[in-house]
Amino acid sequence: MAYSELNTVLSLMKERVNLSQIVRRDVTLQKKGREFVGHCPFHNEKTGSFFVNDDKGTFYCFGCGASGDIIEYLIRKNGIQFMQAVEILSEISGIKIPEKMQYSDNCIYKQQSILLKIVEFFKDNLAMSNDAMEYCKKRGLVQEIINKFSIGYAPRDNSLLNYLKEAKFSHDDILNSGVFIEKDGELICRFRDRIMFPVFNKNGKPIAFGGRGIRKDAMPKYINSPETTIFQKRETLYGYSSAVKCISKVMPFILVEGYMDVVIMSKYGFNTAVASMGTAFSSQHLAKLWTYSDEPIVCLDGDFAGYNAMLKIAILALSYLQPGKSLKFCKIPEDDDPDSFLKSHPKTEMEKLLSKSKNLIDFLWERFAQNFVEMPNKTPENIAKWKREIFSHIDEIQNADIKALYKQEIRERIVALFGKGNKPSSHLNAYRKSLSVQVDKKEKMLLREAVLLYILISRPSVIPFVVEELASVEFSDKDFEHLRHRILENLDSQDFGGAGDVVLRSKQLASEFVSCNEMQDSDVIELWKDVFDLGIARKRVANDLKVAKSECEASFDDVTWNRFKALKLGFISSKNSEK
Ligand code: UTP
Ligand code: MN
Repeated sequence: MAYSELNTVLSLMKERVNLSQIVRRDVTLQKKGREFVGHCPFHNEKTGSFFVNDDKGTFYCFGCGASGDIIEYLIRKNGIQFMQAVEILSEISGIKIPEKMQYSDNCIYKQQSILLKIVEFFKDNLAMSNDAMEYCKKRGLVQEIINKFSIGYAPRDNSLLNYLKEAKFSHDDILNSGVFIEKDGELICRFRDRIMFPVFNKNGKPIAFGGRGIRKDAMPKYINSPETTIFQKRETLYGYSSAVKCISKVMPFILVEGYMDVVIMSKYGFNTAVASMGTAFSSQHLAKLWTYSDEPIVCLDGDFAGYNAMLKIAILALSYLQPGKSLKFCKIPEDDDPDSFLKSHPKTEMEKLLSKSKNLIDFLWERFAQNFVEMPNKTPENIAKWKREIFSHIDEIQNADIKALYKQEIRERIVALFGKGNKPSSHLNAYRKSLSVQVDKKEKMLLREAVLLYILISRPSVIPFVVEELASVEFSDKDFEHLRHRILENLDSQDFGGAGDVVLRSKQLASEFVSCNEMQDSDVIELWKDVFDLGIARKRVANDLKVAKSECEASFDDVTWNRFKALKLGFISSKNSEK
């Protein structure tokens, strides 16, 4: 049966059955954003790092790197063959397997053996073609690299077809390889006059091809195999199987853009380069990298498109950060990619660039800070918008410890940025200024309490959003403390009646420094939280720190320890900013 028919039946089945529904039979899943998270059924773990995405119908584990679709899941979980997995899916979905499909049991095996044959054919043809060898020479593809990556050449004629027919492959086998197009019943090789880069799976089995046209006017420049059951672009990285073998503490994965970058990097001893082959970098790609390397380096082309793609990867990675797992970012000079850079610079220059790679947080912050600098009109409204964008990205971080630490760090950087002569005309800043004038510590405390209360009184609609914080502190001023209780006790009615004097006092103290008129609720909340973090939170943190310390002594696990560390960091820095 033709490959496309099999695919149609499979996608019908997949539409009917959610992957999470199947996984739930083996492990408990919890909804987290767009995905489900649970303990990985394929390896032993204490915390859940197994993600299921029903929209995409895929799973992946950040712990052991297991990934795939519903069929792959059934095969791995039950130790069965492809066709048996299809049968299970057929039962659950109620979609019958067409009779003739039942013969294609070993189609994957056949697909792999035909691809092996094709790799050999292209290799032989490269050695026989002067033009192709000339092109390789021009691009610096020396014999050692040609051998290592099994690079070949697809000739201009259709001789591959006869070669495969002679090797007794059927029409369907040939079509299922993905290398041919069917036109009016005729099979035509989709790669002509191209340098061929076979794509291997992790076990070193060929699953697809990328072909680079060797003429200047070749259109398009690259052609890739279409997706098949054994070749899913969002899961495949070019160069992965050979790179994996060279990963070490000092040699992490290096993510580059193209086939050429991977092979030329390898030529100069950077053996851990991989590429995502013209598709967007996905979370499955990320899981593959993290399986072997804690901090892979992203090193795309030096042009604007390359930078933008790196930024996208940085933002994508936020959602999946785990303790110890991150990315680094290496900027190649403009107009270069790793391939061209290595051609015009000594290898040591590349080493220097890689060693100067930026941490994820620094790479992102650089962008955020630049956006601030480029902001033409630094009004409170525009600054608040800028901040909201930053924190909306940070909010994507799923890991609570990492998220707290990022928030802390970014808040501090924002404060530092304002200190650098970038003083915005913000309300917060007026308030901050007043703090530096008023030296008396008690006065400072009083002013903060007044500001926090005054904001809530003049904009009661934001109270529900700050309840947690408000409930966690104690105000030093007796009257203010009384009003704080009143607010918390009357959350629904927002009735401050009977506290008129105190309300007035807080207004007298605070209104000089803050005004929420014409600000959106979300910005008022931000403002309130900023003031809260500036000092009052310290008291609360000191308390939390005590609790975390005793928890830590009682049970010394990662979670309590990280919490302790986070609190301590926060505590120390909020103390410093007081000085
Ligand atoms: P590049 O255009 O940067 O290619 O595209 P490259 O690797 O630097 O190749 P050379 O040096 O010009 O020969 C990066 C990757 O995007 C995919 C390929 O995977 C390529 O390696 N791509 C590019 C395509 O799939 N199709 C195209 O037409 C172009
Ligand atoms: Mn390139």
